[in-house]
Amino acid sequence: MVQKVEKIWLDGKMIPWDEANVHVLTHTLHYGLGVFEGIRCYEGDDGRSAIFRLQEHIDRLYDSAHILLMEIPFPKEELFEACKEIFRTNKLKAGYLRPLVFVGDGEMGLYATSNRIRVAVIAWPWGTYLGDEGVKNGIKAKVSSYTRNHINCMMTKSKAVANYVNSILAKREAMLGGYEETIMLDTEGYVSEASGENLFMVRRGQVITPLTTSALHGITRDTVIELLKDRGASVKEAHFSRDELYIADEIFLTGTAAEITPVRELDHRRIGVGKPGPITQQVQKDFHDLVRGRGKKHQEWLAYL
Ligand SMILES: Cc1ncc(COP(=O)(O)O)c(C=O)c1O
Repeated sequence: MVQKVEKIWLDGKMIPWDEANVHVLTHTLHYGLGVFEGIRCYEGDDGRSAIFRLQEHIDRLYDSAHILLMEIPFPKEELFEACKEIFRTNKLKAGYLRPLVFVGDGEMGLYATSNRIRVAVIAWPWGTYLGDEGVKNGIKAKVSSYTRNHINCMMTKSKAVANYVNSILAKREAMLGGYEETIMLDTEGYVSEASGENLFMVRRGQVITPLTTSALHGITRDTVIELLKDRGASVKEAHFSRDELYIADEIFLTGTAAEITPVRELDHRRIGVGKPGPITQQVQKDFHDLVRGRGKKHQEWLAYL
């Protein structure tokens, strides 16, 4: 259960949590046209809270909407402020943040262009998505039998509500099979991403990540590339196959919800020595230092409340 807080921002107003309801004819509920973001706010050692890379998440939200021909009826600056305000109003020092843009009720049918575009901003406390144990010791994953959305079927650069049916099918298949996460291949058979995370592998000291052809442009992915650069390591972006993952020394997944989660086993093959490797552990440490304001670089990525 999501841990309830006091208020939700809906269409420009702070309203009580229990009153943030919509009509059953809400268009997005029927046809899946909507976009959203997943963002985290962290409390630093000094007690100050900051939303991590808020501007980049807001920019991606507007890009996602633009791709789907949805016009968000608020300026970016107002949503940026609403994201901070939701933490202050609910007296939350840290947590997960979910801006959601959806098509309201009115007309039905696919070509319903007159319905109001609605916006909600919700925040709640949320721990590590793939579990503390997984973050510490690594997870068991499976290559999905479902193919990642084809780039000319779903718009993979849009964080669109409907794209997640593909992710949910893959995630359910993995969980029901006793795994914790799933890695998806694109229509050509190359590794794309996990159901809700991007992926990195390390082989003989080289860090490699799939091109984002069919994957989301992850903000954590970009952060990790920058953190590795800061340490003088380059990341190669390339197409590669599932069996290259089997012989990787390290694999880790990156995402706002999952943060940096190591993979210790894939399709019953042990990855490396079967526990988080040195590069994964370094990235985890650098990431947690950064989001808690301990890093010297990238201060501009922290939007203090
Ligand atoms: C499908 C998918 N890929 C990758 C990511 C990672 O993106 P980010 O690091 O921006 O959270 C997410 C999470 O938002 C996702 O849902």
